[in-house]
Amino acid sequence: MRVSMIVNGEQRQDEVEDRLLLVHYLREVAGLTGTHVGCESSLCGACTVLLDGRAVKSCTLLAVQASGRRLVTVEGLAQNGRLHPLQEGFWEEHGLQCGFCTPGMIMAAHDLLSRMKHPSEAEIRRGLEGNLCRCTGYQHIVKAIEYAAQRL
Ligand code: FES
Ligand code: FES
Repeated sequence: MRVSMIVNGEQRQDEVEDRLLLVHYLREVAGLTGTHVGCESSLCGACTVLLDGRAVKSCTLLAVQASGRRLVTVEGLAQNGRLHPLQEGFWEEHGLQCGFCTPGMIMAAHDLLSRMKHPSEAEIRRGLEGNLCRCTGYQHIVKAIEYAAQRL
């Protein structure tokens, strides 16, 4: 089936199998490997991207379901060579160790901050409850998001 969507501001049209998952479309067809594949069962959040501005787990959607819509992946956040405040926050506040969960955390946090300008620590933790990190203990991730919230 032919899909047509805007990915990180670029219009794409591709022929895909009906059963292709959105995460595999992004990584293997669009070449955007910043979106990670973890559990493939909607648990870990490593595959989180923005679909029409809202965070979705791209392992639980088919590419054909995203046709006609607008996607943003972690590669689409930096503008004119400048990191997005969320990316800067993860850098400055040491919000990652291995980095596997980081793109998904950043995209989930992007959704959160688009709905809530200055979330409390509890609201940040609730906003990220669909994203798992095996390394950091979460405290630095919360700080990274607070850093971004002060700059957006
Ligand atoms: S890979 Fe999608 S939620 Fe884990
Ligand atoms: S930094 Fe390793 S899983 Fe989160």
